[in-house]
Amino acid sequence: KLIYILNGPNLNLLGKRQPEIYGTDTLADIEIRCRQLAQAQGAEIALFQSNHEGEIVETIHEAREKAAAVIINPAAYSHTSVAILDALNAYEGKVVEVHISNIHKRESFRHHSYVSARADGVICGCGTEGYELALRHVLSLLG
Ligand code: DQA
Repeated sequence: KLIYILNGPNLNLLGKRQPEIYGTDTLADIEIRCRQLAQAQGAEIALFQSNHEGEIVETIHEAREKAAAVIINPAAYSHTSVAILDALNAYEGKVVEVHISNIHKRESFRHHSYVSARADGVICGCGTEGYELALRHVLSLLG
């Protein structure tokens, strides 16, 4: 079982970017922890990050053939991207949306996420641990 973990714009800077909001763990740290968790249950992860909306859309298309579930932090595209929502609507596996920060506690433009209309579950405000929480959930759903 392969699970995609997709990350949107600016998350390549995780660990250095506004650490007071997003913490000091990097995407590489998250990848190591999630890979261990998945492997312990006989699953695999593939982690992607892109600053380009179209690349995220294309990776979701690829997931249609390859991934049993998608965990996605669409970052700023959460609040703007109908294209990412449409791509996820064309994907048939489980989708869990992750936000490191609690978007509801922040500026009002962050309160709405297009992706939440498709997500089977949403985890926000749990820091980078949110990725592992999402992965645990997906692994238990996939059985
Ligand atoms: C984020 C929240 C978004 O509002 C923001 O644009 C991000 C990261 C989060 O993980 O908390 O880039 O998705």
